[in-house]
Amino acid sequence: MVVKETIDIDLDRIDQLIEQEEAKLEPKHRASIAYREVAERTIAGGVASSWQASPPHAIYIDHGLGNRLWDIDGNEYLDFHLGYGAMVAGHAHPKIVEAIQRQAARGTHFAQPTKDLDAVGENLVDRFELPLWRFCNSGTEATLEATRLMRANTGREMIIKIEGTYHGHHDSLMFSIGPDPMKIGPREHPNTVPQAPGIPKALQDLVRVVPFNDLNEVRRALEENEGKVAGMIIEPAMMNCGVILPEPGYLQGLKDLLHAHGAYLAFDEVKTGATIAYGGAVEAFSVTPDIVCLAKAIGGGTPCGAIGATRELYRPVLEDEYDMAGTFNGNPLTMAASRATLTEVLTRDAYDHFNAIHKLMEDGCTSVIEKYALPAYVTGIGAKGSVIYSSTPVREYRDAVGIDERITYIAWLFQQNRGVFKSPWTKQETWTTSVFHTDEDAKRYVDNFEELAAALTS
Ligand SMILES: Cc1ncc(COP(=O)(O)O)c(C=O)c1O
Repeated sequence: MVVKETIDIDLDRIDQLIEQEEAKLEPKHRASIAYREVAERTIAGGVASSWQASPPHAIYIDHGLGNRLWDIDGNEYLDFHLGYGAMVAGHAHPKIVEAIQRQAARGTHFAQPTKDLDAVGENLVDRFELPLWRFCNSGTEATLEATRLMRANTGREMIIKIEGTYHGHHDSLMFSIGPDPMKIGPREHPNTVPQAPGIPKALQDLVRVVPFNDLNEVRRALEENEGKVAGMIIEPAMMNCGVILPEPGYLQGLKDLLHAHGAYLAFDEVKTGATIAYGGAVEAFSVTPDIVCLAKAIGGGTPCGAIGATRELYRPVLEDEYDMAGTFNGNPLTMAASRATLTEVLTRDAYDHFNAIHKLMEDGCTSVIEKYALPAYVTGIGAKGSVIYSSTPVREYRDAVGIDERITYIAWLFQQNRGVFKSPWTKQETWTTSVFHTDEDAKRYVDNFEELAAALTS
């Protein structure tokens, strides 16, 4: 819902609040700040992944349990970050710990298949309605294989992707993820903007970027590149500009359009799969694509990834034309953790729980927005949600470009200083909940949000 009569948020006021909240936070993180200097001696930037060093400083974690985590300074947080949404099963869930311990004692790696394959495979078929699966170790690997499968099956090379979405860090898709508004070009022909130096120009020429929620632009891309497009990869609900849901008919329309042009549709469900519904976006939006890419939540906290597809798409793999391979693919630890996660923890009733908590978060944040007349609204589904700081609906990346990042940053700082850990990425205001999150946890988030609203409007 979008609030009609809203106030303008004073950016000077936000700057003032950022200064106050950063000053309050720093003394709480002395051990993290000092440890980064130690780690920096041998680890580039002192962190294992670039996004772990988000402003104001990297926060090093000691341990997690259920819905909580503790940093190395001893601060306790209610965790709405949940490892970028991977931990909807919660930290150290007893059933997953037991499965990992049992397998660890029996060997952690053989590079030979083990007997958890069928149980995990059957569960994924039940959830996502695709008949065949393979495993890998990350979302990046899943979308890499999906891209290659679409190319292998069509003999074509062009891929359509959505402006403003991330599909992992491989070269085929690392374009227009959060592109600089000065570089994006016209909406009907967006520039394909590389996200980092070192990505070959030859691959840039193979990626056609389109806006989310617009079938006409996909039609245009297909017609202008007749016979060249292998397929399209899409996050069925965008999750890195807040949560942007697909409009009714959009996903089915994509499938029909792509098929009419001899191309495939792949859902990147790395964030949505196993979090927004039992069957991810396939179930939530009633569209089964040709490929589903999974990772994050399906591994219960172990490195994981999976690619589901039709038998037609898997033909080159089944006929040994295409080696979909990896030393750690389907490794026993991940498979044991996935089996427990999917069959014992993230059962159908877990999604009733996520929906109930989501309703509390949505209703609570919406009444704060109305009370303070903030130019914002709440979106989300299942375990994922967000406040979007815009008075008009955000349907695609370009609608989010105008949202000042300082507001999502102050929202993060406010929660952090009040014991709630959110994903440390200033452009998004997305939360994730776990099977351990309670009504009180939702209330705490909303209460902190109300403190922010009061401070912004005072
Ligand atoms: C939608 C989406 N796809 C792919 C990836 C890449 O996954 P990974 O970090 O496991 O490689 C991410 C990571 O955040 C993601 O959000």
